[in-house]
Order: sequence, then C-alpha cells, then structure tokens
Amino acid sequence: MSESAHGRRIVLHNRLEERESPFRLAEDARRGLTAETRTMPPKYFYDDRGSRLFEAITRLPEYYQTRAEREILERHADAIVARIRPGVLVEFGSGAAEKTRALLDAMRSAGTLEGYAPLDVSREASQRAAEALIRDYPDLRVEGVIGDFERPHHLPFPGRRRLLAFLGSTIGNFERERSIAFLAGAAAEMSPADGFLIGFDLVKDADTLERAYDDAAGVTAAFNLNLLRVMNRELGADFDLAGFRHRALYDASLQRIEMHLVSTRDQTVHIPAIDLTVQFAEGESIRTELSHKYTRASVDALLRRSGLALCDWFTDERQRFALALARLP
Ligand code: SAH
Ligand code: TRP
Repeated sequence: MSESAHGRRIVLHNRLEERESPFRLAEDARRGLTAETRTMPPKYFYDDRGSRLFEAITRLPEYYQTRAEREILERHADAIVARIRPGVLVEFGSGAAEKTRALLDAMRSAGTLEGYAPLDVSREASQRAAEALIRDYPDLRVEGVIGDFERPHHLPFPGRRRLLAFLGSTIGNFERERSIAFLAGAAAEMSPADGFLIGFDLVKDADTLERAYDDAAGVTAAFNLNLLRVMNRELGADFDLAGFRHRALYDASLQRIEMHLVSTRDQTVHIPAIDLTVQFAEGESIRTELSHKYTRASVDALLRRSGLALCDWFTDERQRFALALARLP
C-alpha cells in the first residue's frame, strides 16, 4: 500500500505481482510468442509512455469513441446516478479518468458521492489521475487498486452502494469467452442495489473503424510498437522497431478489429530473459489487440450469458457508441 503526501485521501493498493516487472511479462511472452497464432496480452502496452500515448489516441480526430462516450455521459450521468444512487464509483481500467468526472459530478450533485475506486494496471496513470481528482473534488476519498482486473478483485469500499464502470469499450479487448468470465466475476461481487455501466463501441462501416485504429498521424502505430519497447526494456529483447509495422483490420464476420505488428522482413529476435529465439518471415505478425464491436442485441445476449440484465441503454446522437446499464436480474 502506498500513501501520498495528500494524507489519507489517496490509497493505492499494490496488487502487481512481485519480482517480475511488469508482472508476469516473461511468462506471458513465452506463452504468446511460441503459440501458433502469436499474441501478446494488451495490458503490457500501458507503461508510463504507453499510457500517455493512449491518452493521445483519445484526442485523435479519427478516434471518435472517446468523444461519443463523453457525449453520452454528459447527457445521461444524472439519470444513471438517479437510478442507482451510488456512494462509490468503482472503475475498471480507469486510466486518466477524465470521462469519469461526468459520473462523479452527477454523484456530487445528487449528494451521494463518498469514494472513488480506480482499478488499473498502470501505476503512473492511476497516481496522476488520483492526484488530479482530489484537487478538484475536495471531499472525495480515492481508494484504488494497481493490478490486473482479470484477477479476483476484492473491491474497495465493501458494503457501500456501488456503481461499477468499465468505459472506453475496453471490454471489447477481451476474447468473447473472457468477456463473459470477466462480467460474471463482477456480477458475483455485486449486490442487487449496485449497477454496472459498460461502454460498447457499436458495429459500423469498416472504413470508419479501421481509421480509428490506424490514424494518419501515426499515434496508434507508436502505441502498438510500444509493446516491443517494453519487451526490449524488461526482457532484454532485441526487437528492431523499424522491422515491424502497425496494421489494423476489421473482420466483419467476427465483428472485431484485429491489431497486428507485422514483420517487414525475414528476421530473428532474441529474448534473453526467457532464453527464446523467435523467427519472423516477412509478413508474419504478432496479434497485439482485439477490439470487438457490438449491437444492442449482442450486448443483451452477452449480459444474459454473464448473469446480468440490461436495464438501460444510451447512445450518442450518431449511434456510434453505447453505454449499457446492467444490474443483477
Ligand atoms: N477508461 C479509459 C482508459 C481506457 S484504456 C478510457 O476510457 O479512456 C484501457 C485502460 O485499462 C488503461 O488505463 C490500461 O492501463 C488498463 N488496463 C488494460 N489491461 C488491464 C488489465 N489487465 N488490468 C488492469 N488494467 C488494465
Ligand atoms: N479500448 C480501446 C478500443 O478498443 C483500446 C484501443 C484503442 C487500442 N486504440 C487502440 C488498443 C490501439 C490497441 C491499439 O477502442
């Protein structure tokens, strides 16, 4: 546990695994890079540099998701808070927690706001977000967890009425089965009075989607390539960043974007920390991210299969993005 100079208003529990930094990277890299389809878990994007690059993505003209979700939050946060009357907001993958403010504002106006519990793998992003929040919300207590939200959570503020939030369509980054397991795990920690607000990017034309994940300024490419930097730094690997390029493709039948790092030539990469040598032929890739897209019907089905019920549905004016409010059935 770490406490900052702000007394007891910020508490960030450290649940990262010890000895490995970032935790479990070595094991995950061995498993991912030796599999038939080479993959890496996306949580390793988000070191300090990666978190800042992601924040830059949220401001790109092509990345409509953040603006659409903010529009929905600003319009409907009061109604969402009126339904649940939460004392505490628990947020998975909170990052910079900027859009979160619309929910905190609504809780403050309703007179219910007591605490905020961010849960994120990025220590740097969480610390910056918490410090900014306690400056602007003088009575707020922040008690967060630095760790992997795919592990059992033991959420802070037990016993309080809670609104859980999972914004940014981060749920779309899981494999389908994992998204059900994640939601079912959260449902198991919810009481009947709690609500769960989840952001979903909606199915749309492939062009708009591919541009959102492959912007003209190259910020998304830099974010994707940051994964190789993390492996170079943490595992002593010798990935040549100039030997890989970013690719984002929409698969309409699976309703998802796939992100890859594609080898631009035949090459051999050494990863001393796990004593592994990986050969890449030109055009072979590492799949680094999935981003599923949804319809109201597919969200409804996902929630049911996870033991939750859709109780409200909000979209932006242009129907690009949705917020689902779920509760126990
Ligand atoms: N909620 C913000 C950030 C979304 S980006 C928004 O909507 O803009 C995804 C966030 O989830 C990042 O802050 C990243 O650090 C965090 N994250 C990704 N994988 C994670 C994991 N396995 N466990 C915990 N946090 C994770
Ligand atoms: N949750 C975000 C999304 O799927 C994550 C994201 C946006 C992302 N752009 C990215 C992940 C580029 C990897 C690479 O929209």
